[in-house]
Amino acid sequence: MKERLLSNIQGINEEPQEQRLRPQYLNQYIGQEQIKDNLKVFIEAAKMRNEVLDHCLIYGPPGLGKTTLATIIANEMNVNIRYTSGPAIEKSGDLATILTSLEPGDVLFIDEIHRISRSIEEILYSAMEDFYLDIVIGKGEESRSVRIDLPPFTLIGATTRAGALTAPLRDRFGVHCRLEFYDIKDLQTILARSADIYGCYIDESSTYQIAMRSRGTPRIANRLLKRVRDFAQVKNEGLINEEISISSLDLLQVDSSGLDNIDYKILECLVKRYEGRAVGLETIAITIGEESITIEDVYEPYLVKEGFIERTPRGRKATAKAYNHLGIEYKSQ
Ligand SMILES: Nc1ncnc2c1ncn2[C@@H]1O[C@H](COP(=O)(O)OP(=O)(O)OP(=O)(O)O)[C@@H](O)[C@H]1O
Ligand SMILES: [Mg+2]
Repeated sequence: MKERLLSNIQGINEEPQEQRLRPQYLNQYIGQEQIKDNLKVFIEAAKMRNEVLDHCLIYGPPGLGKTTLATIIANEMNVNIRYTSGPAIEKSGDLATILTSLEPGDVLFIDEIHRISRSIEEILYSAMEDFYLDIVIGKGEESRSVRIDLPPFTLIGATTRAGALTAPLRDRFGVHCRLEFYDIKDLQTILARSADIYGCYIDESSTYQIAMRSRGTPRIANRLLKRVRDFAQVKNEGLINEEISISSLDLLQVDSSGLDNIDYKILECLVKRYEGRAVGLETIAITIGEESITIEDVYEPYLVKEGFIERTPRGRKATAKAYNHLGIEYKSQ
């Protein structure tokens, strides 16, 4: 349970509940000020010129609001949005079907765009650049290439691994939005907003307690709120105050710094097993029995951001903060 609660990955049945809390317009999207400021200008300029918005690439760890932002962009542009994902587009025909069904100006959202196949990616180039597709139909000597004109559209790609995108694809996005972890204050605002949607009362110290444990991630903040709200409902007539927040978060065994048991495994691996030496990602992965890609995308960003580990050319190292957190004396190497 502890692991699930603090995971930034969307749970299996979590979409409908996230849908309910998802901001629809930029003014409801909390934090990420610089991204919002830029987008406002780009959106307004595109509208003034009666053009489609440039293609946008949104990247950042899970649960920071990539899908939300894509939806907001479409709403602000007053156009429809079609959702698909890299792995879902198997054949060039799949892509052609989606693209030709768009209305002029529509947004096509491709989630996990780094997982798109190479052949699809190459077809995307001309679609993004000049709004046409070259599709080969038929086989062998009978085969021929046909050109299909497309309505102008905006492609919004989302990815947790911008580094996994090829340079030609990355360069075809005019707008790059790199989402950052949220600070406590922004998370508190998000929590207050969500509580408002739920129609429940929450005080400031409670939003603080929950925000502290949310790993800088709105998805986790909202998930914790939902649980705390259950406790408040049963034990405190629906009122969420500091006492009920702390006691329920304790009962849920949520660490006061938002670390979960995988984070602890990583820290212990670095501190105890390798005694503070720099350790390669693969070695950590094998030692704790997780995939290295999961460690790199899901766990490490927050641990680095919070200063528990640092990335060195020779591998990952635990910091004094990590030793402190584990209650082990730090001897500088
Ligand atoms: N800036 C924000 N303000 C308010 N709520 C937010 C914000 N960003 C995200 N959220 C909330 O967090 C939830 C998760 O966001 P979202 O689904 O957009 O994340 P994501 O980056 O697409 O995650 P994934 O990588 O798993 O696809 C949303 O339901 C939304 O309610
Ligand atoms: Mg998403």
